[in-house]
Amino acid sequence: MIVRSFLRSSSWWIALVLIMVYAGCTDDPTDILAVRNENLRVELVEWARLAQSAHNYQPWRVVLDPDRSDRMWLYIETERLLPETDPPARQITISAGTFLAVLEARAAQLGLAAQIELLPHGEYDLETIGSLPVAAVVLNEFSGARSSLFVAADVDALSQATVKYRYRPAELDASFRRRLTAWSDWDSGIQVSVMTDPADVQWLNEISRQAYVIEMRNPATRAETYESTRMTRRARRQQPYGLAYTANFRPMILRVVETSQILFPQSHEKWAETGIDQFTAALDDINTYIVITSETNDRTAQVQTGRMLQALWMEIQAAGHVVLANSQALQEYPKMRELYTKVHERLAPDGETVQMILAVARPATGRHLHSPRFRAEALISSPD
Ligand SMILES: Cc1cc2nc3c(=O)[nH]c(=O)nc-3n(C[C@H](O)[C@H](O)[C@H](O)COP(=O)(O)O)c2cc1C
Repeated sequence: MIVRSFLRSSSWWIALVLIMVYAGCTDDPTDILAVRNENLRVELVEWARLAQSAHNYQPWRVVLDPDRSDRMWLYIETERLLPETDPPARQITISAGTFLAVLEARAAQLGLAAQIELLPHGEYDLETIGSLPVAAVVLNEFSGARSSLFVAADVDALSQATVKYRYRPAELDASFRRRLTAWSDWDSGIQVSVMTDPADVQWLNEISRQAYVIEMRNPATRAETYESTRMTRRARRQQPYGLAYTANFRPMILRVVETSQILFPQSHEKWAETGIDQFTAALDDINTYIVITSETNDRTAQVQTGRMLQALWMEIQAAGHVVLANSQALQEYPKMRELYTKVHERLAPDGETVQMILAVARPATGRHLHSPRFRAEALISSPD
Protein backbone atom coordinates (compact mmCIF):
# COMPACT_ATOMS: atom_id res chain seq x y z
CA MET A 1 0.00 0.00 0.00
CA ILE A 2 2.72 2.42 1.05
CA VAL A 3 4.92 1.27 -1.87
CA ARG A 4 2.14 1.68 -4.39
CA SER A 5 1.38 5.19 -3.24
CA PHE A 6 5.12 6.03 -3.35
CA LEU A 7 5.39 4.78 -6.95
CA ARG A 8 2.44 6.86 -7.88
CA SER A 9 3.86 9.97 -6.33
CA SER A 10 5.22 12.41 -8.89
CA SER A 11 8.38 13.17 -6.93
CA TRP A 12 9.63 9.59 -7.45
CA TRP A 13 9.26 9.93 -11.23
CA ILE A 14 11.07 13.23 -11.26
CA ALA A 15 13.93 11.65 -9.30
CA LEU A 16 14.08 8.71 -11.75
CA VAL A 17 14.24 11.04 -14.75
CA LEU A 18 17.03 13.04 -13.10
CA ILE A 19 19.05 9.87 -12.39
CA MET A 20 18.66 8.72 -16.03
CA VAL A 21 19.69 12.11 -17.36
CA TYR A 22 22.75 12.11 -15.09
CA ALA A 23 23.72 8.57 -16.13
CA GLY A 24 23.26 9.55 -19.77
CA CYS A 25 25.56 12.54 -19.33
CA THR A 26 28.42 10.61 -17.81
CA ASP A 27 28.10 8.00 -20.55
CA ASP A 28 28.16 10.61 -23.28
CA PRO A 29 31.21 9.85 -25.46
CA THR A 30 31.79 13.55 -26.13
CA ASP A 31 32.21 14.08 -22.43
CA ILE A 32 34.73 11.27 -22.12
CA LEU A 33 36.69 12.83 -24.97
CA ALA A 34 36.63 16.14 -23.11
CA VAL A 35 38.28 14.53 -20.11
CA ARG A 36 40.84 12.81 -22.33
CA ASN A 37 41.65 16.02 -24.17
CA GLU A 38 42.16 17.84 -20.91
CA ASN A 39 44.91 15.39 -20.03
CA LEU A 40 46.18 15.28 -23.58
CA ARG A 41 46.95 18.98 -23.65
CA VAL A 42 49.02 18.63 -20.49
CA GLU A 43 50.61 15.49 -21.91
CA LEU A 44 51.65 17.43 -25.02
CA VAL A 45 53.17 20.21 -22.90
CA GLU A 46 54.94 17.51 -20.89
CA TRP A 47 56.82 16.51 -24.06
CA ALA A 48 57.12 19.92 -25.69
CA ARG A 49 58.98 21.31 -22.66
CA LEU A 50 61.87 19.00 -23.64
CA ALA A 51 62.42 21.09 -26.79
CA GLN A 52 65.61 23.05 -27.41
CA SER A 53 65.61 26.72 -26.42
CA ALA A 54 68.13 29.56 -26.44
CA HIS A 55 70.12 29.40 -23.17
CA ASN A 56 67.57 26.74 -22.17
CA TYR A 57 65.28 29.62 -21.15
CA GLN A 58 62.09 27.73 -22.03
CA PRO A 59 60.27 30.97 -22.87
CA TRP A 60 56.88 29.26 -23.06
CA ARG A 61 53.52 30.16 -21.58
CA VAL A 62 50.65 27.89 -22.47
CA VAL A 63 47.00 28.79 -22.03
CA LEU A 64 44.44 25.98 -22.20
CA ASP A 65 41.14 27.16 -23.67
CA PRO A 66 38.63 26.88 -20.80
CA ASP A 67 35.72 26.48 -23.23
CA ARG A 68 37.22 24.10 -25.78
CA SER A 69 39.16 21.13 -24.52
CA ASP A 70 40.77 20.62 -27.92
CA ARG A 71 42.36 24.07 -28.10
CA MET A 72 45.37 25.78 -26.52
CA TRP A 73 47.58 28.82 -27.14
CA LEU A 74 51.30 29.34 -26.93
CA TYR A 75 52.70 32.71 -25.81
CA ILE A 76 56.22 33.92 -25.14
CA GLU A 77 56.93 34.12 -21.40
CA THR A 78 58.35 37.63 -21.05
CA GLU A 79 59.94 36.87 -17.69
CA ARG A 80 62.47 34.76 -19.57
CA LEU A 81 63.89 36.88 -22.37
CA LEU A 82 67.59 37.45 -23.12
CA PRO A 83 67.80 41.22 -23.69
CA GLU A 84 71.62 41.35 -23.95
CA THR A 85 72.25 38.20 -25.97
CA ASP A 86 69.12 38.34 -28.11
CA PRO A 87 67.88 41.97 -28.20
CA PRO A 88 65.26 41.45 -30.96
CA ALA A 89 63.97 38.22 -29.33
CA ARG A 90 64.67 36.36 -32.57
CA GLN A 91 66.24 33.34 -30.89
CA ILE A 92 63.52 33.41 -28.24
CA THR A 93 60.93 33.25 -31.03
CA ILE A 94 62.81 30.39 -32.70
CA SER A 95 62.50 28.69 -29.31
CA ALA A 96 58.72 28.90 -29.59
CA GLY A 97 58.94 27.01 -32.89
CA THR A 98 60.93 24.19 -31.31
CA PHE A 99 58.19 23.78 -28.69
CA LEU A 100 55.53 23.51 -31.41
CA ALA A 101 57.54 20.91 -33.35
CA VAL A 102 57.71 18.56 -30.37
CA LEU A 103 54.06 19.14 -29.54
CA GLU A 104 53.08 18.27 -33.09
CA ALA A 105 55.32 15.21 -33.24
CA ARG A 106 54.03 13.89 -29.91
CA ALA A 107 50.42 14.51 -30.97
CA ALA A 108 51.06 12.48 -34.13
CA GLN A 109 52.49 9.66 -32.04
CA LEU A 110 49.20 9.65 -30.11
CA GLY A 111 47.20 9.51 -33.34
CA LEU A 112 46.23 13.18 -33.33
CA ALA A 113 46.78 16.01 -35.76
CA ALA A 114 47.82 19.25 -34.07
CA GLN A 115 46.60 22.02 -36.34
CA ILE A 116 48.84 24.99 -35.73
CA GLU A 117 47.88 28.51 -36.70
CA LEU A 118 50.89 30.80 -36.34
CA LEU A 119 50.52 34.36 -35.05
CA PRO A 120 46.69 34.21 -35.09
CA HIS A 121 46.46 37.83 -33.87
CA GLY A 122 49.30 39.07 -36.06
CA GLU A 123 53.04 39.56 -35.71
CA TYR A 124 54.32 40.89 -32.38
CA ASP A 125 57.08 43.41 -31.69
CA LEU A 126 59.05 44.00 -28.50
CA GLU A 127 56.12 45.96 -27.05
CA THR A 128 53.50 43.32 -27.69
CA ILE A 129 55.61 40.17 -27.28
CA GLY A 130 53.96 38.10 -24.60
CA SER A 131 50.51 39.55 -25.13
CA LEU A 132 49.91 38.23 -28.67
CA PRO A 133 49.91 34.45 -29.08
CA VAL A 134 52.66 32.76 -31.08
CA ALA A 135 50.24 30.02 -32.08
CA ALA A 136 46.78 28.61 -31.62
CA VAL A 137 46.76 24.81 -31.54
CA VAL A 138 43.68 22.69 -32.22
CA LEU A 139 43.76 18.91 -31.78
CA ASN A 140 41.95 16.73 -34.28
CA GLU A 141 41.77 13.04 -34.94
CA PHE A 142 44.17 12.11 -37.74
CA SER A 143 42.69 11.99 -41.19
CA GLY A 144 44.55 11.50 -44.42
CA ALA A 145 48.23 11.54 -45.25
CA ARG A 146 50.97 11.74 -42.65
CA SER A 147 53.35 13.74 -44.77
CA SER A 148 54.44 16.60 -42.53
CA LEU A 149 58.05 16.35 -41.42
CA PHE A 150 57.05 16.84 -37.78
CA VAL A 151 54.86 13.80 -38.02
CA ALA A 152 57.82 11.83 -39.31
CA ALA A 153 60.26 13.26 -36.75
CA ASP A 154 61.41 10.84 -34.10
CA VAL A 155 60.05 12.30 -30.88
CA ASP A 156 61.43 9.39 -28.83
CA ALA A 157 64.90 10.83 -29.44
CA LEU A 158 64.05 13.36 -26.71
CA SER A 159 64.57 10.68 -24.10
CA GLN A 160 68.34 10.96 -24.75
CA ALA A 161 70.14 13.89 -23.18
CA THR A 162 72.34 16.21 -25.21
CA VAL A 163 76.11 15.77 -25.13
CA LYS A 164 78.18 18.94 -25.56
CA TYR A 165 81.87 19.38 -26.37
CA ARG A 166 82.78 15.67 -26.22
CA TYR A 167 82.68 14.70 -29.86
CA ARG A 168 83.78 12.38 -32.59
CA PRO A 169 83.33 13.51 -36.21
CA ALA A 170 79.87 13.02 -37.71
CA GLU A 171 79.16 10.11 -40.04
CA LEU A 172 75.98 11.06 -41.85
CA ASP A 173 75.79 9.23 -45.16
CA ALA A 174 74.92 11.04 -48.38
CA SER A 175 71.32 9.81 -48.57
CA PHE A 176 70.63 10.93 -44.98
CA ARG A 177 72.11 14.35 -45.74
CA ARG A 178 70.01 14.62 -48.91
CA ARG A 179 66.89 13.77 -46.91
CA LEU A 180 67.58 16.61 -44.47
CA THR A 181 68.21 19.07 -47.29
CA ALA A 182 64.97 17.99 -48.95
CA TRP A 183 63.09 19.17 -45.86
CA SER A 184 63.43 22.67 -47.31
CA ASP A 185 60.42 21.71 -49.45
CA TRP A 186 58.20 21.75 -46.35
CA ASP A 187 58.21 25.55 -46.32
CA SER A 188 59.41 27.38 -49.40
CA GLY A 189 60.68 30.27 -47.27
CA ILE A 190 63.06 28.10 -45.21
CA GLN A 191 66.26 26.61 -46.63
CA VAL A 192 68.31 23.83 -45.03
CA SER A 193 71.91 23.36 -46.24
CA VAL A 194 74.22 20.61 -45.05
CA MET A 195 77.90 21.59 -45.32
CA THR A 196 80.69 19.02 -45.30
CA ASP A 197 83.19 20.65 -47.63
CA PRO A 198 86.39 20.99 -45.53
CA ALA A 199 86.91 24.63 -46.56
CA ASP A 200 83.35 25.57 -45.51
CA VAL A 201 83.66 23.63 -42.26
CA GLN A 202 87.00 25.24 -41.41
CA TRP A 203 85.55 28.68 -42.10
CA LEU A 204 82.48 28.00 -39.93
CA ASN A 205 84.65 26.58 -37.13
CA GLU A 206 86.73 29.76 -37.13
CA ILE A 207 83.64 32.00 -37.21
CA SER A 208 82.10 30.00 -34.35
CA ARG A 209 85.26 30.35 -32.27
CA GLN A 210 85.57 34.09 -32.85
CA ALA A 211 81.89 34.62 -32.06
CA TYR A 212 82.11 32.59 -28.86
CA VAL A 213 85.09 34.70 -27.74
CA ILE A 214 83.11 37.89 -28.41
CA GLU A 215 80.07 36.64 -26.47
CA MET A 216 82.18 35.57 -23.51
CA ARG A 217 84.38 38.69 -23.37
CA ASN A 218 81.60 41.23 -23.88
CA PRO A 219 80.68 42.12 -20.27
CA ALA A 220 76.90 42.36 -20.82
CA THR A 221 76.45 39.04 -22.65
CA ARG A 222 78.99 37.30 -20.42
CA ALA A 223 77.06 38.45 -17.35
CA GLU A 224 73.76 37.27 -18.85
CA THR A 225 75.22 33.87 -19.66
CA TYR A 226 76.89 33.59 -16.25
CA GLU A 227 73.64 34.50 -14.47
CA SER A 228 71.75 31.94 -16.53
CA THR A 229 74.16 29.11 -15.68
CA ARG A 230 73.09 26.78 -12.89
CA MET A 231 76.37 25.84 -11.25
CA THR A 232 75.03 23.23 -8.81
CA ARG A 233 72.40 20.52 -8.53
CA ARG A 234 70.54 22.67 -6.02
CA ALA A 235 70.51 25.62 -8.42
CA ARG A 236 69.16 23.37 -11.18
CA ARG A 237 66.36 22.25 -8.90
CA GLN A 238 65.52 25.74 -7.64
CA GLN A 239 65.64 27.40 -11.05
CA PRO A 240 64.93 24.63 -13.55
CA TYR A 241 65.87 26.67 -16.62
CA GLY A 242 69.12 28.08 -17.97
CA LEU A 243 72.41 26.45 -18.86
CA ALA A 244 73.97 23.62 -16.88
CA TYR A 245 77.00 21.35 -17.15
CA THR A 246 74.80 18.29 -17.54
CA ALA A 247 75.52 18.09 -21.26
CA ASN A 248 79.25 18.77 -20.81
CA PHE A 249 80.15 16.05 -18.29
CA ARG A 250 79.09 12.52 -17.42
CA PRO A 251 77.22 12.25 -14.09
CA MET A 252 80.23 11.27 -11.92
CA ILE A 253 82.48 14.01 -13.30
CA LEU A 254 79.57 16.45 -13.15
CA ARG A 255 79.39 15.96 -9.38
CA VAL A 256 83.07 16.77 -9.04
CA VAL A 257 82.82 19.82 -11.33
CA GLU A 258 79.74 21.16 -9.57
CA THR A 259 81.28 20.63 -6.13
CA SER A 260 84.45 22.42 -7.16
CA GLN A 261 82.32 25.35 -8.37
CA ILE A 262 81.00 25.66 -4.82
CA LEU A 263 84.38 25.23 -3.10
CA PHE A 264 86.43 27.33 -5.51
CA PRO A 265 84.08 29.78 -7.24
CA GLN A 266 85.64 31.40 -10.31
CA SER A 267 85.42 35.04 -11.32
CA HIS A 268 83.20 35.75 -14.36
CA GLU A 269 86.33 36.33 -16.42
CA LYS A 270 88.10 33.11 -15.44
CA TRP A 271 84.90 31.12 -15.91
CA ALA A 272 84.46 32.60 -19.40
CA GLU A 273 88.05 31.78 -20.42
CA THR A 274 87.62 28.14 -19.31
CA GLY A 275 84.49 27.99 -21.47
CA ILE A 276 86.37 29.40 -24.47
CA ASP A 277 89.09 26.74 -24.12
CA GLN A 278 86.55 23.90 -23.96
CA PHE A 279 84.54 25.25 -26.87
CA THR A 280 87.63 25.75 -29.05
CA ALA A 281 89.00 22.26 -28.34
CA ALA A 282 85.66 20.67 -29.27
CA LEU A 283 85.63 22.36 -32.70
CA ASP A 284 88.54 20.15 -33.83
CA ASP A 285 86.12 17.24 -34.22
CA ILE A 286 83.39 19.07 -36.15
CA ASN A 287 83.21 18.07 -39.82
CA THR A 288 79.55 18.86 -40.61
CA TYR A 289 77.40 21.97 -40.32
CA ILE A 290 73.76 22.65 -41.07
CA VAL A 291 72.72 26.19 -41.92
CA ILE A 292 69.08 27.29 -41.84
CA THR A 293 68.25 30.44 -43.79
CA SER A 294 64.93 32.16 -44.40
CA GLU A 295 63.75 34.51 -47.14
CA THR A 296 62.16 36.92 -44.68
CA ASN A 297 62.98 37.63 -41.06
CA ASP A 298 59.49 38.14 -39.66
CA ARG A 299 58.16 36.29 -36.62
CA THR A 300 56.56 33.65 -38.82
CA ALA A 301 59.91 32.81 -40.43
CA GLN A 302 61.54 32.68 -37.00
CA VAL A 303 58.94 30.27 -35.61
CA GLN A 304 59.18 28.12 -38.75
CA THR A 305 62.96 28.03 -38.29
CA GLY A 306 62.45 26.70 -34.78
CA ARG A 307 60.11 23.99 -36.02
CA MET A 308 62.69 22.98 -38.61
CA LEU A 309 65.55 23.13 -36.11
CA GLN A 310 63.75 20.84 -33.67
CA ALA A 311 62.72 18.35 -36.36
CA LEU A 312 66.35 18.19 -37.53
CA TRP A 313 67.51 17.84 -33.93
CA MET A 314 65.20 14.87 -33.27
CA GLU A 315 66.07 13.16 -36.53
CA ILE A 316 69.83 13.56 -36.13
CA GLN A 317 69.77 12.59 -32.46
CA ALA A 318 67.76 9.48 -33.38
CA ALA A 319 70.57 8.63 -35.82
CA GLY A 320 73.05 8.53 -32.91
CA HIS A 321 74.45 12.01 -33.49
CA VAL A 322 74.18 15.33 -31.64
CA VAL A 323 73.30 18.79 -32.89
CA LEU A 324 75.05 21.77 -31.36
CA ALA A 325 73.56 25.18 -32.04
CA ASN A 326 76.52 27.50 -32.68
CA SER A 327 74.39 30.61 -32.83
CA GLN A 328 76.77 33.15 -31.30
CA ALA A 329 77.72 34.74 -34.65
CA LEU A 330 74.01 35.41 -35.24
CA GLN A 331 73.51 37.37 -32.03
CA GLU A 332 72.42 40.93 -32.72
CA TYR A 333 74.30 43.44 -30.55
CA PRO A 334 76.93 45.97 -31.67
CA LYS A 335 80.04 43.94 -30.77
CA MET A 336 78.84 41.01 -32.92
CA ARG A 337 77.82 43.12 -35.91
CA GLU A 338 80.98 42.57 -37.94
CA LEU A 339 80.82 38.76 -37.69
CA TYR A 340 77.06 38.79 -38.29
CA THR A 341 77.66 40.70 -41.53
CA LYS A 342 80.51 38.39 -42.59
CA VAL A 343 78.31 35.32 -42.10
CA HIS A 344 75.50 36.87 -44.13
CA GLU A 345 77.78 37.92 -46.97
CA ARG A 346 78.97 34.35 -47.41
CA LEU A 347 75.94 32.24 -46.49
CA ALA A 348 73.07 34.50 -47.54
CA PRO A 349 74.31 36.52 -50.52
CA ASP A 350 70.79 37.18 -51.84
CA GLY A 351 69.62 39.01 -48.75
CA GLU A 352 68.19 36.07 -46.82
CA THR A 353 68.58 35.81 -43.04
CA VAL A 354 70.83 33.16 -41.57
CA GLN A 355 68.64 31.93 -38.73
CA MET A 356 70.69 29.06 -37.28
CA ILE A 357 74.14 27.51 -37.59
CA LEU A 358 74.22 23.95 -36.27
CA ALA A 359 77.30 21.78 -35.82
CA VAL A 360 76.71 18.03 -36.09
CA ALA A 361 78.87 15.40 -34.40
CA ARG A 362 78.73 12.04 -32.67
CA PRO A 363 78.93 12.01 -28.89
CA ALA A 364 82.24 10.66 -27.62
CA THR A 365 80.94 9.63 -24.21
CA GLY A 366 78.06 7.64 -22.76
CA ARG A 367 74.91 8.62 -20.90
CA HIS A 368 74.47 12.19 -19.65
CA LEU A 369 71.85 13.81 -17.43
CA HIS A 370 69.21 16.04 -18.97
CA SER A 371 69.42 19.81 -18.65
CA PRO A 372 66.82 21.14 -16.23
CA ARG A 373 63.26 21.70 -17.38
CA PHE A 374 60.18 23.25 -15.81
CA ARG A 375 57.35 20.91 -14.99
CA ALA A 376 54.47 21.13 -17.46
CA GLU A 377 52.16 22.74 -14.87
CA ALA A 378 54.64 25.58 -14.35
CA LEU A 379 54.33 26.50 -18.03
CA ILE A 380 50.54 26.49 -18.06
CA SER A 381 48.71 29.62 -16.94
CA SER A 382 45.09 30.68 -16.90
CA PRO A 383 43.64 33.01 -19.52
CA ASP A 384 43.96 36.74 -18.70
C1 LIG B 1 67.59 29.47 -30.83
C2 LIG B 1 68.58 28.62 -30.11
C3 LIG B 1 69.90 29.05 -29.98
C4 LIG B 1 70.83 28.27 -29.31
N1 LIG B 1 72.13 28.70 -29.23
C5 LIG B 1 73.07 27.92 -28.65
C6 LIG B 1 74.43 28.29 -28.65
O1 LIG B 1 74.80 29.32 -29.20
N2 LIG B 1 75.32 27.47 -28.05
C7 LIG B 1 74.95 26.31 -27.46
O2 LIG B 1 75.79 25.59 -26.92
N3 LIG B 1 73.65 25.91 -27.46
C8 LIG B 1 72.72 26.69 -28.05
N4 LIG B 1 71.41 26.28 -28.08
C9 LIG B 1 71.05 25.03 -27.46
C10 LIG B 1 70.51 25.26 -26.07
O3 LIG B 1 71.51 25.69 -25.20
C11 LIG B 1 69.87 23.96 -25.61
O4 LIG B 1 68.77 23.74 -26.40
C12 LIG B 1 69.36 24.04 -24.22
O5 LIG B 1 70.39 24.36 -23.35
C13 LIG B 1 68.73 22.73 -23.82
O6 LIG B 1 69.73 21.85 -23.50
P1 LIG B 1 69.66 20.29 -23.67
O7 LIG B 1 69.86 20.00 -25.11
O8 LIG B 1 70.82 19.81 -22.85
O9 LIG B 1 68.35 19.84 -23.17
C14 LIG B 1 70.45 27.04 -28.75
C15 LIG B 1 69.12 26.61 -28.88
C16 LIG B 1 68.20 27.38 -29.55
C17 LIG B 1 66.79 26.90 -29.70
